[in-house]
Amino acid sequence: MAILIAYLLYALLLTLLLALRGLGRRVPRPSGAKAAEPARVLIIGATGGTGRCLVAQALDRGHEVTALVRDASKLAIEHPRLRIMKGDVLDAASVDAAVRGQDAVVSALGHKRFLGPSSILSEGTRNVIAAMETHGVGRLVCETSLGIGSTAGRMGLQYTLFVLPVILPFHFYDKTRQERLIAASSLDWVIVRPAALTDDQGRGECRSGQDIGSFVTTAKIARADVARFMLDQLAESSNLGSAIGICS
Ligand SMILES: NC(=O)c1ccc[n+]([C@@H]2O[C@H](COP(=O)([O-])OP(=O)(O)OC[C@H]3O[C@@H](n4cnc5c(N)ncnc54)[C@H](OP(=O)(O)O)[C@@H]3O)[C@@H](O)[C@H]2O)c1
Repeated sequence: MAILIAYLLYALLLTLLLALRGLGRRVPRPSGAKAAEPARVLIIGATGGTGRCLVAQALDRGHEVTALVRDASKLAIEHPRLRIMKGDVLDAASVDAAVRGQDAVVSALGHKRFLGPSSILSEGTRNVIAAMETHGVGRLVCETSLGIGSTAGRMGLQYTLFVLPVILPFHFYDKTRQERLIAASSLDWVIVRPAALTDDQGRGECRSGQDIGSFVTTAKIARADVARFMLDQLAESSNLGSAIGICS
């Protein structure tokens, strides 16, 4: 019984930590006006689940796409408007080279090194922000997750009481650092916080806002819909400077 109480206390304290460390409710910067659609877009995390959807959809929308990848063989897309650059977000020089000449950056960076402290998300994002500021690339759209900052607890009880405390505490703590770095930057940024991801076919629409998700059940969203929403943010100004939750 004492162990169970200690565990529940730990899970609740973690939720509190993620709430306090992640970004709170932010008022989006003014101007609901549409921005000019950027032509050249760098996609980070392009070989991942969301990243592959981003690449395919960005090409469909007519963007000139650069994919920063560690292993080009993982990206089985060929297209005249797709440039694949080998690099690593933890290598500032390769990030700098990929960011130079872009109009916008979309990041679906993630990893599976869950067991133990890690700073891949925050350190990688730090390099991206530095390169964007150096080269005057204004807009960053970055995927983090529901469950942090103003959406703490909103991935549902299964995540709050099991998945986050047992599997993802370090991963999610690093996401809070990632969000803080973005918010402290001079960029035109939008943080997109999806619910649990699926590889289902997208619905072509999703719900978005600060009160998305549920404290009880696990909300979900298809990666294809996350990618669509993220790419919409390239020409949308109404969510600038805010972390916005999305789910089906
Ligand atoms: N799974 C969920 O239910 C869920 C829910 C909410 C939010 N999220 C978050 O959403 C994001 C995307 O998740 P996902 O499952 O769609 O993607 P994913 O399959 O985890 O892909 C992550 C991408 O990041 C890349 N990456 C990792 N380390 C890198 C490095 N050092 N340099 C360059 N690229 C690197 C990976 O490259 P490699 O292919 O080379 O490894 C891959 O392309 C993640 O941040 C995840 O935590 C996930």
